[in-house]
Amino acid sequence: MYTQAMDLPDPQAGTLQAVPAPAESALQQQFDGKMDADRKIEPQDWMPDAYRKTLVRQISQHAHSEIVGMQPEGNWISRAPSLKRKAILLAKVQDEGGHGLYLYSAGETLGTSRDQMLEGLHSGKAKYSSIFNYPTLTWADVGVIGWLVDGAAIMNQVPICRCSYGPYARAMIRICKEESFHQRQGFESLMVQMGGTPAQREMVQDAVNRWWWPVLAMFGPPDADSPNSAQGMRWGIKRISNDELRQKFVDATVPQARILGVTLPDPDLKWNEARAQHDYGVIDWDDFWAVVNGNGPCNKERLATRVKAHEDGQWVRDAALAHAAKQRARALKEAA
Ligand code: 3HC
Repeated sequence: MYTQAMDLPDPQAGTLQAVPAPAESALQQQFDGKMDADRKIEPQDWMPDAYRKTLVRQISQHAHSEIVGMQPEGNWISRAPSLKRKAILLAKVQDEGGHGLYLYSAGETLGTSRDQMLEGLHSGKAKYSSIFNYPTLTWADVGVIGWLVDGAAIMNQVPICRCSYGPYARAMIRICKEESFHQRQGFESLMVQMGGTPAQREMVQDAVNRWWWPVLAMFGPPDADSPNSAQGMRWGIKRISNDELRQKFVDATVPQARILGVTLPDPDLKWNEARAQHDYGVIDWDDFWAVVNGNGPCNKERLATRVKAHEDGQWVRDAALAHAAKQRARALKEAA
């Protein structure tokens, strides 16, 4: 889908005439005009370097989050409590891998190869979502990841379907549909567990207690401490701010928690009549930054597992390339 847009006409070949490139200021004006009119930027369009760089940063971080995010739940595939739950979890983890692939493809349309993006992840230079550096201690964690982590991901990602960069926006439409299924399966699994024994209900509550605060932090630093927000909003990459999304998530989740019968672990969480929103307690931003900077409970394990999976998969990439070379040689021979 994306590679077509990368196939730029070669002015040297065929009958196309090379046209002199417009001056950079005119290109910038055209770009600003598209931003003002809320139109899409496509891979072959001129764009400022900083816009390209911001997109590569965000899309690659997003892609890395999807593939590292396979690990906490993948950990439970062999221990799912029934065949049905195993099949659901397998499909979900596979979906996350697919999301990573759509996103790496969208990133590649900006001229950065997947190898370059992966090198950033594997060397520890590139970020991925803080949320995947926490352990999944019980089966209830798998349900809570679906309900809260995927619920937060949807809240953050639906606005990205309207992102100004076409390939990213289009990839997000499909991703959000799948994330919506992920959220529902998590909630349904928790509903079943909450209808079980007291020990099962306690297990769910314990998982909610451990995941609630990291999920709120997942939306990113407060707007006042978010260096990328203002420009991201101006460029239509970000449509709703970190704090606004966090608030929307809290407001949407409180009634769901009531239906489930769990308590959200925040004594300050209460409805504010004047604001018509919930107030909530203070997020531990020191903990968030420690995790983002590599010192969370599972950072080292997650990165080591990812690097090992990449190295173990080298033979598959080699085989695919050898097969493609063979096919090409055969096609050339047949054409000769
Ligand atoms: N984890 C790790 N780093 C984070 C973070 C988080 N939860 N939130 C913010 N940061 C980083 C930013 O990347 C930025 O670092 P950088 O400048 O070195 O790149 C720094 O903290 C400052 O944050 P800003 O708010 O200024 O950064 P952004 O404007 O880029 O906003 C964002 C951060 C809201 C995460 C935005 O990049 C975004 O919306 N990204 C796309 C969605 C995404 O990547 N989601 C990750 C989860 S994917 C997922 O959950 C998969 C699903 O299957 C569950």
